[in-house]
Amino acid sequence: MAGDRLILRVASLGEADELAQLEAACWPAGLAATAEQIAARITAYADGQWVASDRDRPVGYSSAQRITFAPLDQRPLRYDALTDADRFTRTHVPTGPVYQLVGVSVHPEARGQRIGRQLIDHQVTRAWSLPGVQRVLGFTRPTGRQAAPELPLDDYVRTQGDRLPTDAVLEFHLAAGAVIVSMHEEFREIDEECLGAGVLIEYLPDSSDPKS
Ligand SMILES: CC(C)(COP(=O)(O)OP(=O)(O)OC[C@H]1O[C@@H](n2cnc3c(N)ncnc32)[C@H](O)[C@@H]1OP(=O)(O)O)[C@@H](O)C(=O)NCCC(=O)NCCS
Repeated sequence: MAGDRLILRVASLGEADELAQLEAACWPAGLAATAEQIAARITAYADGQWVASDRDRPVGYSSAQRITFAPLDQRPLRYDALTDADRFTRTHVPTGPVYQLVGVSVHPEARGQRIGRQLIDHQVTRAWSLPGVQRVLGFTRPTGRQAAPELPLDDYVRTQGDRLPTDAVLEFHLAAGAVIVSMHEEFREIDEECLGAGVLIEYLPDSSDPKS
């Protein structure tokens, strides 16, 4: 167990390669951020890139940026447009009113120890402490969706945990108090686990983890 050894800290440019290796271990093929993309994120907004480190070894990584409301008015909403293809160079706005949680990943061998939860809780608390932040939003992944490919996205989200098994990644956010804002087919076509879909969730100022 990571327990007391776990430290949360901002990412540094010098560890982009190591974080890319962590990403590759965490995500399905094609979805992991590369070292070049991670370096670009750190350059754009170092304070939004957080690492969970266990005895100097990164075991988790959470990424966020600040954006304006305008990109969220586009339809269809697409991952690459909202994140500048995972780089944040053209999407991050230092005074942006939306704190966008872009990703959280924990090494498979370190899962189930609430490392992911600590990273997101930290991001959310930090976001609400920043002047000018009006909403804390993130697109999350309905990862169990391939088990019911015949269901439209809203039917899948409504019935998971009831007629269908609980969706692990949705549960990760909803069990901690996040609420669903909207659902988006074709959000990220290369995300085959989710049949390309994304679910926009929001952490309200009074979001609190009922389990902590
Ligand atoms: C999602 C992810 C970050 C979770 O990391 P983690 O450190 O294992 O998660 P935690 O231990 O903090 O879990 C917190 C809560 O999430 C929920 N949860 C996490 N994994 C779950 C699972 N497999 N099934 C059901 N619920 C789950 C539970 O409510 C859990 O609370 P509990 O410990 O009281 O049961 C990790 O599985 C991961 O890296 N996945 C691949 C990348 C990804 O899809 N990221 C999310 C989209 S941005």
